[in-house]
Parts: sequence; C-alpha cells; structure tokens
Amino acid sequence: MMKSSSLRSRWAAGVGMALGTACAVILAAVSLAPGHDAARAGIGRCDDQPVAVAAPAPATQPTQELNFLAMGDWGEGKPAQKTVAETMARYVTSRHARFAGLLTAGDNFYVPVSGTHDPVWQTLFEKMYDPIRLDFPFYVSLGNHDYDQKKYRWELAYSLEFPQSRWKLPSRWYRLDFPRENSLLTVMMLDSDHDFMTANDWRQEREFLEQQLARPRAPWTMCVAHHPLFSNGLVGQNGLLQKDWGELFKKYDVDLYLCGHDHNLQHLEIAGWKTSFVIAGGGGAHSAPIVRDSLGPFSRAVYGFAHFQFTPQQAIIRYVGADGQLLHEFVRSKAGQVRVTVTTPSDASIAKPLQVLQGIYDKIHPSTRPATRPGSETGDESYMPPAR
Ligand SMILES: [Fe+2]
Repeated sequence: MMKSSSLRSRWAAGVGMALGTACAVILAAVSLAPGHDAARAGIGRCDDQPVAVAAPAPATQPTQELNFLAMGDWGEGKPAQKTVAETMARYVTSRHARFAGLLTAGDNFYVPVSGTHDPVWQTLFEKMYDPIRLDFPFYVSLGNHDYDQKKYRWELAYSLEFPQSRWKLPSRWYRLDFPRENSLLTVMMLDSDHDFMTANDWRQEREFLEQQLARPRAPWTMCVAHHPLFSNGLVGQNGLLQKDWGELFKKYDVDLYLCGHDHNLQHLEIAGWKTSFVIAGGGGAHSAPIVRDSLGPFSRAVYGFAHFQFTPQQAIIRYVGADGQLLHEFVRSKAGQVRVTVTTPSDASIAKPLQVLQGIYDKIHPSTRPATRPGSETGDESYMPPAR
C-alpha cells in the first residue's frame, strides 16, 4: 500500500410513501437517538399531496461525527455478496464507531422477488447482513434491476409493511437529514432510472431535487443514485445525468455523489466539477472490469464497499475491499480540497474493451450468440451492452 499526497489544489429526513408512484414530499425527519447506533426513519405517508412539511433544522451545532457504509449492486446471492456482507460486519466492529446507516446505490435484487414475503428478503437481506453487528437502517435507492418485473413495488411495500426492518425505502426519491436537529449531513436519495420512468416522473424528481437543494441544508450534501455521471468502466459517461442533475450539483455545491451500476470501486475527480464522485458498485453482484484509465484518481475492479465519515471540518471516504483491505482513502474539506491519504494501484485500461463487452454479453445471453461473430478486432457497436 502506498501513500500519496494532494492530487489537485481544488480540486431532515423527508420521507414520503408511494407504491408505484413517486412521492417527493418531506414529511418527517430522520433523527439519531442519542446513545444509539441506529437512525430510525420517521416515515409519513403521502399520496399525491403533501400532508405535512418539516424543514430540517439549521445546522448551528453540528453533530461531531457521522459514519455511513455504502454499497451498490449486491442482491445476486453469489458468494461474493456473502463475503462483502461478512467483511462489512467485521469492519463495523473493528471501527468502534457508531454507524448511522448504510446507503444502497441500487440494483438491490438481481433475482426475482415475488412479494413482501418472498424468502429472498430473509436470505439476501435480513440474514445476509448480520442484524447484530449491522444494526442500523439501510436507506435504499433503486437501480435498473429493481425495475425488472417491477420489483421496486415490493421493495417499497416491504418498507411499509415491516417498519421494524432495517430496510428503508419510503419513496423512489426522498431526503434524509442526519441528525434531525443541528444536521451535519443532508442526503438526497434519487432514482436515476430514467429509461424506466415517465417523462413526468423524471421532471418531478428533478424539481424535487432542486427544491430541496434550495432549502436549508446541513453543512454537507450528498446525492445518491444508481447510475454514474462519469466512469472508467463499461457504462462510461452519462450525458443525461451530467446535464439534468449535474447543473444542480454545480449550482448548489453538492459535495459528493454516490452511485453504483459499474460493478467496481472508483473515486473520480473531474475537471470543472467540485463534486467528488464515488462509485461503490462492489456489493457482490458479478464483477465488471475497468476499461479506461483516463479519469482518476482511483478505479479498481474489485468487490467491496465504502465508508463515509463526516465531521464539521472534513469528510473521509474509505474504499474497503472484500478482504477487508483499505484500498483507497481521501479527505475532502468543506472548501472542496481533496487529498488522497491512502491508495493502491488502479487498474490499467484494457486494450480491447469491446471484446470484453462482447464476452460479458455472450456469457449472459449465450442463446443470442450469432453463428458468425461480428468483427471483434474492430468492434461492432451494434452489440448492445448487457444490463448491469
Ligand atoms: Fe445497474
């Protein structure tokens, strides 16, 4: 493991409930019970109209420290998921710190979910993530695989039906403030699944995002969704998100953007953007390679998770591999200064990314493999990338 210094010189929970429809209304605030690890969401119900609004308290005396875990792309039931889950539990124990929750970056279930009593809730979530050592809420965002067979409806319903569960998905997009009084962190849990949403939903979500960013916020603001704006992986850049959300990130000085979809771990600082981009897609679903090395400072195709530690002065983001190794760590000041304090070598770019893409596609969809393969040397972009 090597150490490196500075890379660049600049470089209230609102919760609504809806099933099958988006609800973008602040109803209650998440608060941290003093002396307890878990932040329990106060979940209000809304249909189409706001029934109550509770603005977050101004941050006059911020809590001294907040810790969160983060992972995306996990519910596949493969050994890697179990390994990451166990490593997270050991990690939390070893840190001797209170964790306020875990933020999921979507693709929560790759397997079918038949309802709120499907056994997968126990096998892939409740028992998979040790309820003793990981005794805090899992705040959920949705990924493209959560739209398969409209599974997101059950994910919303489970949160409503089992409020005692750690599973928290009150709406397809919602706001969290930690803690409720004198908040230190505002989190916008968003749905980036544009292609599965109506134009009206997409517009309403963006309006919600801007409204909330314009309201009083905690000193730190973090947005969470499934799809990256930038990536060194196969999913590449997302111009739509860069435009529709990116201009809000810039306008309102969003500090951090957490996502998954690319099944690897990345820390990206992009010229012209003050936001730090964190990809934590190593939750245990099938791995995906890093294909470019044009963005930095860190990209590795490994399983693992992220640890966010906030204080009033700085945020420390750690990338932990499935074996428990600290792979990368950076410190971000409130002014936006980013210092890499620990890192390990990033993956090199690969020479023929389209061959990798075709290989993955063939593996996932063998029945559709053509008798005569399109020219792999030059690449054939008629091949559609696999759903990630
Ligand atoms: Fe995905």
